[in-house]
Amino acid sequence: MVEAVARIKYFSAMSRFVPVATDLALKGWAICPDFLPPDTVAALFDAAQHLWAAHAFRRAGVGRATGYAIQTEVRGDFICWLDEHAPHPALKDYWREIEQLRLTLNRELFLSLVSYEAHFAVYPPGAAYRCHLDRFTTADERMISCALYLNQAWRPEDQGQLRLHIPGTPVDILPCAGTLAALRSDMIMHEVLPAKRPRYSLTGWFKRRSSQPFRTA
Ligand code: OGA
Ligand code: MN
Repeated sequence: MVEAVARIKYFSAMSRFVPVATDLALKGWAICPDFLPPDTVAALFDAAQHLWAAHAFRRAGVGRATGYAIQTEVRGDFICWLDEHAPHPALKDYWREIEQLRLTLNRELFLSLVSYEAHFAVYPPGAAYRCHLDRFTTADERMISCALYLNQAWRPEDQGQLRLHIPGTPVDILPCAGTLAALRSDMIMHEVLPAKRPRYSLTGWFKRRSSQPFRTA
């Protein structure tokens, strides 16, 4: 009985992400409007701003290994990779929820997700990321992409939408604080439209084990 109650408690903690799993299965993308509480999102925004001020970001590139290149007309953001073991309390909250989401996706969709990598991203005003897929042609580990938005009070006129290119009408998602957009890395073409304000996010990828030998090009 005690065990059964513990089990129910464990699964109900994960259940808030069941709709995310369902939408990923049915549509290939999902929105979770309150992935973390507002004060945690504000603390993450603060952490990203401090890292930015400390010059911890570098220009993001496209491609991988020998195919890696900086192409600012394709991708204009700056990134700072996260250390999973960093002691920052808000980052700990982020990793804890990401782990709950990973367990839910594995349980609901039999995905075998084994790890997660993430970075802060800053798009200065006018910077964009042209239409792309997040799965590399030379590496097939990336399964689900997640972007958590950090800017408070983002308005439609600030632009910077995440645009999903899905059959029919494209879907635009405003990068509002606390919203998590999740999408299939192998399937959903998407782009980041230029914004009028600096656009802060925390973006990451759930990965499976690779089924391909490592190749450099
Ligand atoms: C990416 C990406 C989406 C966003 O970093 O690959 O597509 O809305 N980000 O920031
Ligand atoms: Mn992307």
